[in-house]
This record gives sequence, structure tokens and C-alpha cells, in this order.
Amino acid sequence: MPRLPPSLFWRAHQISPHAPNLLLACRDLPSTALELRWIKDHITTTPSTTTPPFLRLAHLIRLRARGLPLQYVLGTQPFGTLTIRCRRGVLIPRPETESYTLELADVLFRTPTRSLTVVDLCTGTGCIPLQLFASLRARFPSLAAHGVDVAPGAVALARENARQLGPLGAAQGVTFHRASIFSPAAGLPPFPAGEIDLLTANPPYISRGAFARSTARSVRNHEPRLALVPDGVPASVVAALGCEAFPEDVFYARILELCRGWRPKRVFLEVADGEQAGRVFL
Ligand SMILES: C[S@@+](CC[C@H](N)C(=O)[O-])C[C@H]1O[C@@H](n2cnc3c(N)ncnc32)[C@H](O)[C@@H]1O
Repeated sequence: MPRLPPSLFWRAHQISPHAPNLLLACRDLPSTALELRWIKDHITTTPSTTTPPFLRLAHLIRLRARGLPLQYVLGTQPFGTLTIRCRRGVLIPRPETESYTLELADVLFRTPTRSLTVVDLCTGTGCIPLQLFASLRARFPSLAAHGVDVAPGAVALARENARQLGPLGAAQGVTFHRASIFSPAAGLPPFPAGEIDLLTANPPYISRGAFARSTARSVRNHEPRLALVPDGVPASVVAALGCEAFPEDVFYARILELCRGWRPKRVFLEVADGEQAGRVFL
């Protein structure tokens, strides 16, 4: 990473005495000014009864200067029509995930039925099923969205995120289950065969090597490895699923195995790149 010239810190200081610290994370003046404004807006819109605003500002800027992603500093990330809560330990939703989720909603909108069921495996914050539910609830009188994740923190956060859909979304239409997709059938939610209209998943798919080589430092240092690298799966499971040569594909092998039982009408899986897509789907 190239060093920043001292003159840039001086120019940042002219924006605000806090800006030089933010510049360490943002690396340029326009992003620094923008993030400073977002952090100040956040403090104004979420008043604290215990900590004065100037102390909160200094604290949040210190966290950001240490490289903590902005979404963990502010606690949210816009996603489609929703504001998804974010917390350390749960992956931050990405713009490409937002973009295909909205496209999937458009496709499903044209389904000529009155009821619809969607299942999202490895759901994290719940962003995918929650946005599908928000986009489609006016169209389908009977709509069920399910999210499954192994991490207790992810399931708790997804349930918190469901509350912004109101009592209907939180209580009836959207359900989050805590389970590993590698559990035997009895440990997984009992989705009846042929009843799922769309199954989605953005599973951990980065190889150990690619994680060390090519992920951004803020991702490596602050986002959960469990969400990104599938290296916690026992070797015997990797072998049984035929993924010894490419262990990073093991979640897809298991998801496709589950699909043979659940028989979803459509499947949409996020992959790292064309090479992985070729191995997984062809
Ligand atoms: C790449 S993140 C995707 C999160 C979310 N769907 C999104 O797109 O922002 C992968 C998720 O898979 C979950 N996960 C990891 N191992 C799992 C397992 N064995 N079974 C179910 N979920 C798992 C992680 O906790 C993480 O939330």
C-alpha cells in the first residue's frame, strides 16, 4: 500500500481536526469528507444518554482509523429498500449481493402463483431473504422466506433485521433457523420436497491461499473467517463430497446434494469466479 504524503494530512486537517485520522482508513480526501459526514449524521440520529457527542465522535473515528469497516462503525449497511444492521462477527452484505437479490425479486415477481417459498442457506445478516420478502410480500398473499446459518450471532442479527419488516415479517413470513448445512437431514429444517420456489446461497467459497493473498486487509482483520473460507469442514466430509482437489467448493457440493432431496424449482448460488462456476455447475 503506497504511503500518503504529509501534505494530504495537512489538507485533511483543514476539513476537520478528525479528518487526518480518518484519512488513514479512507486514503483520499473525498472519501474522508464523506465518511466524516456519515459518522456525524449517525451520532445525530442515534443520540446517547450516557456519552456526549464529541466523545462518541472521537471513539468512532479511532475505530475507523484502526481499519474497522465503516459498516461495523455505524452498525448498518443500506441493502435494496432495507437498512441492514451489521455487527462484528457477521459478514457485511456486499453490493453485488444486493444487485442480484433485487434482480431475483424481479424474476420471482412474474411467477404465476399466489404462494411462494424461498430458502437462503448461509444467510448471515439475512439480507437476501429479507429483501426478497420486502420486494414480494405485496405480490404473493402467501409468502414464506427462510434463512439458515450455523453462527448463533448471525441468526440473532438476522432476527433483529427481520423486525424492520414489522410484525408480519418478523413473526410469520420470515423464519431464521440455526443449523449447519452439513448436518444430517434430521438437523436441518424440514423443507418438503418440491415446495421451494427459489433456493439461494452465498456460501464461504474462498480458498486458504486466495484468502491470504488477495482479500483486503480490512476483510482479513475484521470480518469472520467462518463466512469466507470453508476450512472448518472435516477432511472426511470434504473427501466424501469429492472435493479434495478443491476444498473451497465443498459448500456447493453439499448444497447440490441437499437440492436432490428438496428439489427446489430454481437455484441461485454466488461463486467466486468463472473457474469455480465451471467446476461447480458443469
Ligand atoms: C459469505 S457469508 C454470506 C452471508 C450473507 N448471505 C450475505 O450474502 O451477506 C457465508 C455465511 O455462511 C455461514 N456458514 C458458515 N458455515 C456454515 C455452515 N456449515 N452451515 C450454514 N451456514 C454456514 C457463515 O456464518 C456466514 O454467515
